This record gives sequence, C-alpha cells and structure tokens, in this order.
Amino acid sequence: MSQEKLLNLLKVQKCIYPPEDFVKNANVKDYEAEYKRFLENPEKFWEEVANQLFWYKKWDKVLEWNYPYAKWFVGGKTNITVNALDKNIEKGLKNKVAFFWEDEFGNEKVVTYGELYRLVNKIANALRRAGVKKGDRVVIYMPLVVEQIAAMLACARIGAIHSVVYAGFSAPALRHRIQDAEAKLVITADVTIRRGRAIPLKQIVDEAIRDLEYVEKVVVLRRLQPKVDLIGEKEVDFYDFIKDESNYCEPEIMDAEDPLFILYTSGSTGKPKGVLHTTGGYMVGTYYSMKTVFDLKDSDIYWCTADPGWITGHSYIAYGPLLAGATQVIAEGAPNYPDPGRWWRIIEKYGVTIFYTAPTAIRMFMAAGEEWPNKYDLSSLRLLGSVGEPINPEAWLWYYRVIGKERCPIVDTWWQTETGSVMITTIDSLPMKPGKAGKPVPGVIADVVDKNGNPVEPNKGGFLVIKYPWPTMMRTIYKDKERYEKYWNTIPNCYFAGDIATKDEDGYIMVLGRADDVINVSGHRIGTMEVESALVSHPAVAEAAVIGKPHPVKGETIKAFIVLRKDHKPSEKLIEDIKYHVRMELGALAVPSEIEFVDKLPKTRSGKIMRRVLKAKELGMDPGDLSTLEE
Ligand code: WTA
Repeated sequence: MSQEKLLNLLKVQKCIYPPEDFVKNANVKDYEAEYKRFLENPEKFWEEVANQLFWYKKWDKVLEWNYPYAKWFVGGKTNITVNALDKNIEKGLKNKVAFFWEDEFGNEKVVTYGELYRLVNKIANALRRAGVKKGDRVVIYMPLVVEQIAAMLACARIGAIHSVVYAGFSAPALRHRIQDAEAKLVITADVTIRRGRAIPLKQIVDEAIRDLEYVEKVVVLRRLQPKVDLIGEKEVDFYDFIKDESNYCEPEIMDAEDPLFILYTSGSTGKPKGVLHTTGGYMVGTYYSMKTVFDLKDSDIYWCTADPGWITGHSYIAYGPLLAGATQVIAEGAPNYPDPGRWWRIIEKYGVTIFYTAPTAIRMFMAAGEEWPNKYDLSSLRLLGSVGEPINPEAWLWYYRVIGKERCPIVDTWWQTETGSVMITTIDSLPMKPGKAGKPVPGVIADVVDKNGNPVEPNKGGFLVIKYPWPTMMRTIYKDKERYEKYWNTIPNCYFAGDIATKDEDGYIMVLGRADDVINVSGHRIGTMEVESALVSHPAVAEAAVIGKPHPVKGETIKAFIVLRKDHKPSEKLIEDIKYHVRMELGALAVPSEIEFVDKLPKTRSGKIMRRVLKAKELGMDPGDLSTLEE
C-alpha cells in the first residue's frame, strides 16, 4: 500500500492490527488476560517471573513499599551475570552467538556466549586483582564494542557499580560524572570511530581525571596501530590487564537491592543526576519485557541500535537480551555511513528479525529515500520497535510500510532512564495506533492525571504518571535523596515522569513531550540549564537562555538566546566560538544549532528566566499568563 492509502485506511479503522499469525505465536497472546493476571495479584505476578531466573537464595518478601522507597525481592540473593552467562551456557547456549559486531567498513566480529563468558570473567578477575571491590564505582567510557558490554558485565560479576558515560561527552562532562561517583577505575579506549574518523577518547579521559587521586587505574583498549602511548603508572593496556587471568571468576553474591549501576541523565537543573538501579528487580523486569514487549524467541536475531551509554543500551543490549539468551547485532558508527544503505545491508546480512531504533533515525532515512532500504532483502524482519521520543504518524507509517513491509507490528515503547524498562507500548496482540505509544505493559499501572492526581477526561492533556511501584524503578538519585523524592512528591501518590500526555477512550496513551526544561534532541535528553551553564562559562557571555525548537528530523534542536558582556560584539566568529565552547564543555550533542544575541532576557520579578516566553515568541504562539513577567 502507498503511504496515502495507509493513511486513509487508518482514518477509517483508527488502528492497525498485528498479523494473525504473529498474534497466534506471540509470547503474550492476550494482553488483557495478562494484564488482569497482574492486577489480581501484582506480587504473585512478579514472583512467577523471578522464579524463571536463578537465585542463590529466594526472597522473603516480593515487595516492601515505604512510599516513595521500594524494595523488591527482599532478602533474595543472586548475580545478574550468572543468569546472563553461566545459566545460559548450562542450558546449552555455549556456542550460540551472543553478538555479531560490525564497524562502518563491514569488518565483523562474532562472539559466542562461551567467548563472552570467558572475556567477562577475565576482566572481572583483573578488576578484583586491581583492588576493585563490591560497591566501588567504575566508569566506562568506550565506543560500542563487545569489550564495552563485557566491561559492564565484569563489574556486575564482582558487585562493582558501573557508570557508563556515552563516548560523545566532553572532558568536563566526563569529569563531573567521575567525580560525583568517585570512581576508582576508568575503562576506556584509544578511539571511537564515526563517519570513518577516529575520535580520540583516551586524551579526554586524561584531561577528565587530572588531579583526581581516587582514580587509581585507567584501562585502555588500544584499537589502532601504532598503539597510543600509555602515560605513567595508572594506565594499562586492556588486554595486558586481563591476559593472565583465569576464565572463571567467582561471582559476588549480590543482595537483590545491592546497586547494579548508576547512569547519569539530564533533569531541570544544571547538574545531571545519577539514576541508581539495583540488582534483583532490574534483572526480573528487563528479562520479562524482553520476552513480552519484544516477543523474543530462541531463533531471533535481535538488533537494538542504541549505545550502552544510554539506558536503552543498558536494559535492551547489555542485560535484557543476554538474560533471555538472545543473539544480537551491534554496530559501531553512524547509521548512514558510508551510505544510507548501511543499516538495511546489516539487516539482510545477519537476517535480523527484531529491530529496535529511534524516530530520529527513521525520519533521517525517510529523507534519504525509500530506494536505500528497497535495495536490500528485509524479509527476515518480524517486529519493529521505536524509543526515545514521540514518533509522528508519518514516520510510523513509513517505518511500517517501507521497513516492515506491512508485515511487522511496531512497538512504540515509552520509558525512561528512571523507569529502567518499557512502561507503555502495544505488546504483541494489541492493535496499534500510530503516534500513540499504547497501554501500560503488564506490571505497570499508568495514567494521565491533573496536578492533584485526578484522572483527566479522555483526550485531554495531563501529566503522565505511574501509580504503583515496579521492579525496575530507580531506587534513588545517587547522593541526592531530595531529587529522588521529588519524582514522587510532585503529584500526590504518583511517580511523575516529567512528560505530558493524553489518554483516549480505549486507554491508549499518547506522549506529547516533556513538561519540564528538558530538551529531546535526536532522542537524547539534554537539560536546558546544563547548556545554559556551559554557555555562561564562556568569557563573552553574560546571560543565556535555552529552548527546544521543533525539528523535522531531530525532534527538537537547541536555540540559545545570549546577552553578551560589555565590550563584546555579536559576530559570526563569536557564534562559532561559543558553539565550540559548548562542545568542549558538554559534547557535540549539546551544541545549540542556533544562537541569537539579545539585549535582555524575559524574567519573572524574582529573576527567573521565563523560557516559555522566548519559546512562544520563537514559535509564534501565545505565551500564556504573563502576570509574573517583569518586563
Ligand atoms: C521521551 C529513553 C514519546 C520522554 C528510554 C521520556 C518518549 C524521555 C518515548 C526519557 C516514546 C522516550 N514516546 N516519548 N516512545 N520514549 N520518550 O531517559 O520524554 O533517555 O521522558 O530514556 O524520552 O528519555 P531517557
């Protein structure tokens, strides 16, 4: 069908049905029944999932809920890597492929569960030998290579808390995360490779850890020849570090509530927050959603295009799929380099069956043209996924038609770093409504409410909330209890996610965007205040305000309004200079695409910058209530 015909069909029937044989074979054939089973006894529901995994000792209690603090599988003892590796190998997956890795030039590396097991155990032993103990923090700043994921698992093996920092972040951003976590050890690589170019990482680490005495060691994966120099006693080559270690590392016995990782994400202040996830609940929840939301079967070839520097890569590359024994494809580099056929070539090459990506990528490929995917055989695909931002119906239909050939259901998955796993989508048997994420997955009670927590009428805008604890929920913000409690204090008796949404008469939730000062550029969360503080650290900048502007491919782009200090004049060169400064402070993804110099910024009488006034003016909208505006 053409895009137009599909649009018309959608107007008539309001939704798109998953193919009959898909539903017949789905892991969850009847969403309503599964959801009902959860509602009838939430604890029993989760206990049954937990029982599918290995525990050294089972829990005494499934849930302990002291609003707003939850403990799941209280008293249970396990190790997530034993479930992801040892137990899968015992089940016969030793020589099953865990990862097909590929770079931009088509070079590949195939790693089986057995090989991954040995690599993880060796790294874990080496970390222990280096003095890393349970509870110590390790920062991982690496490209998307198998060693990156193995390093995460190695930390989990010995109970060290990993904090993965996306390799696009700059030295000050990395330094902030290393400092906040007081990391003992950093694992990095010489370079990450994107668009055929080697981007140095180790230099950034060297700068980031300058004078930080608690960083005892830097382990460097050296990929290029000649090998990058190692400086001083702190730095060691990755493969030298692990070469004499044995293939087995005794796993640390972890309490269900022992921390597994910290992942920094943007909020509405100038400082990113360290979202903390724990072991047992996270393991159970990511495992469950892998089987249900992604309908994973033993024979699937699963490809999630995220980077483990973000939560999607934690839950749906490093943990969920390995717990479920999946074979995965991972690809380093840009989606459209050397040409826009790259991803489709990879799907054909490995016979990918489940493909999970972001709307921004889909829109970019729409712009590049159908001829690219049409050159390749995509018939292996059976399920598509989307994550990170709202997917507009046009992009949804293109994805459905051109990539899925109208055969593959699409799961538009709404969730967050804080939620740990998918919360809202159309699992398996549910009809899909393009542009609407869908219904809460079994295990989740979600709603759209007003500021007092009362449900709003169908199709009216409100706040998206979750009303009952779930196993993969974050347990706290590292070193910042108050910031954690704010999620649960803003709207009575609810977790407030920060998003605005609507719910229709069928209970389908459509996420409209953020209610706070967080911008979503190409599916990446960026705090306006973080960009503003980077801007004002430039010597020419007196004041800055940042807004998100709708963009057809990226979802949003960043526009900055800047008041210059005395003696500084606007110029093209200054704009370039300021952009460069932000790149150095935060990283490329936070650089404003537009900078406008202004004489003053709209402020409230108490001196707070009113970004919404700037935004309304920029987009030609009604700025709303201006009674608090000073000028
Ligand atoms: C947005 C990414 C609409 C939302 C997993 C959320 C979405 C933020 C969707 C979290 C979706 C994510 N539809 N919006 N399917 N998925 N978002 O923490 O604003 O990087 O609050 O987690 O992305 O971003 P985060």
